[in-house]
Amino acid sequence: MSDLSFKGQKVLVVGGAGFVGSNLVKMLLANDVERVLIIDNLLSADMVNVPSDDRVSIIPYSVADERVLAQIPNDLDYVWHLACYHGNQSSIHDPIADHDNNTVTSLRLFERLKDIKSIKKVVYAAAGCAVAEKTFDAPSATPEDAPISLFHDSPYSLSKLFGEFYGNYYYTRHGLPFVKARFQNIYGPGEILGAGHWRGTVHTVWRNVTPTFIFRSLHQEALPLDNGGDASRDFIFVDDLVRGLMILALRGEPSEAYNLASGVETSILHLAELINKEAQNPTPAAINPKRDWDTSGKRFGDPTKSREKLGFVAEVSIEEGIKRTVAWTKDNLDYIKKTMAKHIKMVPEIEKYL
Ligand SMILES: NC(=O)c1ccc[n+]([C@@H]2O[C@H](COP(=O)([O-])OP(=O)(O)OC[C@H]3O[C@@H](n4cnc5c(N)ncnc54)[C@H](O)[C@@H]3O)[C@@H](O)[C@H]2O)c1
Repeated sequence: MSDLSFKGQKVLVVGGAGFVGSNLVKMLLANDVERVLIIDNLLSADMVNVPSDDRVSIIPYSVADERVLAQIPNDLDYVWHLACYHGNQSSIHDPIADHDNNTVTSLRLFERLKDIKSIKKVVYAAAGCAVAEKTFDAPSATPEDAPISLFHDSPYSLSKLFGEFYGNYYYTRHGLPFVKARFQNIYGPGEILGAGHWRGTVHTVWRNVTPTFIFRSLHQEALPLDNGGDASRDFIFVDDLVRGLMILALRGEPSEAYNLASGVETSILHLAELINKEAQNPTPAAINPKRDWDTSGKRFGDPTKSREKLGFVAEVSIEEGIKRTVAWTKDNLDYIKKTMAKHIKMVPEIEKYL
């Protein structure tokens, strides 16, 4: 039996049809989980990511709905809460929708879970960006106990913190075994441009830097470098991240936060160069001004605590991860274009790819 075995375990993955959630479900199935219930209203997800397996069932509605919460079985072993209103730009466009699908999902879910005594762990997808220092100078690695500002760039960032606050409250008041996974910038197979419903901005389609760059690079376009690419992130490959989520469920200490980070600072310029090389794109990048909402120019996470306390280390290098993600994108290009095409009226630019 592997040390990540979920044999005999019944689990709930909220947001399990999404990019990270569906990768987690697949890895749980590979590690002998007994039953997986997904709750996902498909707001930013595509059913193609949900594996067809007798052990998996899905409730395709909001976890903030009382009737959905009532269907959660009372014999769960583990829960991962990965639902959010994706992403920063959508939340700026519609803060109320963000509140309803991000903050409220956490509150209502934890209120329901507090009564399920069989639960061994609730793992929450917290965001490293909500905690990171805001700087365009040389950043230092963000540890788990970094001070948290009361001033934030987006409602999304606030919602991610509210999830932590509520989880901490349910831990303190009701003993909910709540663990926080602080995510960095995740990339990898399964992130489908345009997945889900229109969320008010072109970022419904161009949803994150890595899949957007890969798609554009495969079409020989100039990659757009906001602020001249002089920003940096900690990129973690999705297989590493979901392995971390499983380790946190098995070994994380309730009430604690753990960075799931590579600990490596990668500039957006370097990311673009890697992608262009892998996608064989000779077109030079386009230099753009800074995004008006974004003040957190450079950041990366400190992986020390997760390594020392849990033995978690991100293993896939950015070079290898980009290689695998470009290969997956090439293999799934037709489907990705079909998904993007749903938004063609709102993003006429899509026409040229079809
Ligand atoms: N991808 C990243 O780089 C990153 C970074 C930091 C934090 N996170 C967090 O990780 C989690 C997963 O992110 P992802 O990249 O897989 O995004 P995603 O958009 O693919 O997944 C979020 C899922 O939540 C679902 N959802 C939204 N509202 C819901 C509701 N009311 N009820 C049930 N389901 C609902 C969506 O349909 C989607 O499947 C999110 O909580 C996100 O905030 C991600």
